[in-house]
Amino acid sequence: MVSIRDVAKHASVSVATVSRVLNDKGYVSVETRKKVEAAIAELNYRPNEVARSLFKKQSKTLGLILPDIMNPFFPELARAIEDTAAKLGYTVILCNSDEDEEKAQRYLDILLQKYVDGIILASNTIREKTIRELNIPVVCIDREISKDIPTIVVDNKKGARTATQFLKDKGRKRIAHIRGPFDVSNANERCEGYLGIVSSEDWFTESYIINGNYHMETATKVALALLQSHPEVDGIFAANDTMAIGAMKAAYQHGLKVPEDISIIGFDGIALAKASIPELTTIEQPLYALGQKAAKVLIQLIEGQEIEKSFHQFDVQLVEREST
Ligand code: RIB
Repeated sequence: MVSIRDVAKHASVSVATVSRVLNDKGYVSVETRKKVEAAIAELNYRPNEVARSLFKKQSKTLGLILPDIMNPFFPELARAIEDTAAKLGYTVILCNSDEDEEKAQRYLDILLQKYVDGIILASNTIREKTIRELNIPVVCIDREISKDIPTIVVDNKKGARTATQFLKDKGRKRIAHIRGPFDVSNANERCEGYLGIVSSEDWFTESYIINGNYHMETATKVALALLQSHPEVDGIFAANDTMAIGAMKAAYQHGLKVPEDISIIGFDGIALAKASIPELTTIEQPLYALGQKAAKVLIQLIEGQEIEKSFHQFDVQLVEREST
């Protein structure tokens, strides 16, 4: 394999001069630069990217920490981030935190050791102080950690209100909610949105709110238990699409027809929502636009450009399909 020494020898210059040409740093005369470039071309030399990032303390690489890529919401987001980063000359390293604080911290350390230029984070376990101590640009996506950190989210409360009101408008009289984890900001906002529409109804009881932890299997289990203990429930707003699909399974297991006996609405707008039978009505997040924005803002920060604002809240929209 051709090394930087071979290039230096071939061009009759020092290794330091070749390094200055490669990194475009420091003075090199036009004539010497030409000699080095010719040697690089003749020897077909490919600079070692690891060595380059060690030298420059930058790598044209972004870290992306997501809770769990097995959740179909996150690959769609990751795809948009990767596409946008690639267009702007960056590659992405993906890490699954499994919502585990220690694992997330380990990944942050590893990403720093790899000299990533910035990090996109969807997390509810990492604290603001930890982010500040990284000393590299960070953008939060989907889950807000602090208003002082650049953040890309949707209007969760409004989306949840729209979903619950929609079930009411469809004539549903007892509407339950499958919420996401208590420590996830958007799960709390979606629950608040639901409560805003139903809490003053005389039929409302706290037992209509069950926790599905954003997981399909958990949602199926808790929804089945809810339908057994509250047979009057005729509408469910699930805080994400995977849980809504789990709720449809529970309804089927309980002998109910969707939407004839019970209407079910989700949140997210993942591709799977169109593949379920019946197709799922949902509150759609502009997934691609969210990922795109996060990558753009992060790269602007890395490249020292001004960002027009730091907090971006995207709108969501109701997509009516067959489950309601
Ligand atoms: O399905 C995953 C959920 O977790 C999504 O609703 C998303 O907004 C998130 O935080």
